Amino acid sequence: MLDRPRYMMPLDENELFSWGATSWRMDIGSYREIKSVLADVVWRRPDDMPEDFEGHIPDTPLGTLGESGMSRLARSLSTMINDPSLVPGIAQTGVLSVGGIEIQNGSYDAAWHHDGLAGKRKGHAGDFFLIAYFGETTWQDEWGGQYEYARRNLSQNWPVEQFTPSSEVRRIAPAERTVMIGWNQNPRLIHRAAPLLVPKDRITIIASLNFHSR
Ligand SMILES: [Fe+2]
Repeated sequence: MLDRPRYMMPLDENELFSWGATSWRMDIGSYREIKSVLADVVWRRPDDMPEDFEGHIPDTPLGTLGESGMSRLARSLSTMINDPSLVPGIAQTGVLSVGGIEIQNGSYDAAWHHDGLAGKRKGHAGDFFLIAYFGETTWQDEWGGQYEYARRNLSQNWPVEQFTPSSEVRRIAPAERTVMIGWNQNPRLIHRAAPLLVPKDRITIIASLNFHSR
C-alpha cells in the first residue's frame, strides 16, 4: 500500500512569513504518538513560581518527562514539522531541528514580546518555535489564553520591554490538537499569550526549532 501524505493541505506559509505565526490541526498520526507520550508526563510545581500574576496557572504547571519520553517527543515533532506535505516552502529551503522542549499548563499575561529581544531569550528562542496545545477539545473565546500575534513598527531604539502592535492582532485558540509555528528571525513580529481567565487545561508543548539551510 502506498503511504498517504501526512497532510492533505499544507500550513499557511504565507501567514507564517508575513505575520510571524500560523496554526493548523495536527495530523492524526502525530496526535496519537504525542498523546501517548503525554500520558507519561509528571506534573510539578516549580520553586520559582510567581505569586502575583493575572491569569490562571494550576498548582502543578510544569511537566517533566524522562529521557526516552523526551526523545520520542522530539522525534514526533521533528517528523511532523519537516513533512513536505505540511511545509512545502520551508522543506524546499532547509530542515528544522528540534532544540529544547518545555511542557507547561496554564497561562498568564507575559506581555507583548519578541523572543530574541528584551531579555526573553529562553526555551523557545530558536529560529522558529512550535507550540502544540492539549487539554480541552474545544475552546471558548471568553476563556482567554489565546496565542496572540501582530506586527510592530521598527524604530532606531533598542526596545527594552515595551512592544506595541501597530497592526491588527491575530489569535490562535489553544484547543487540543492545535499546533502553531512562530518565526523568531523577523524583529517586526511580536506575540504574547493572553491570560487564561478560567481554570481550564491549557497544556503546551513548546519546542525551539533551528533552521539549517540545504
Ligand atoms: Fe515568546
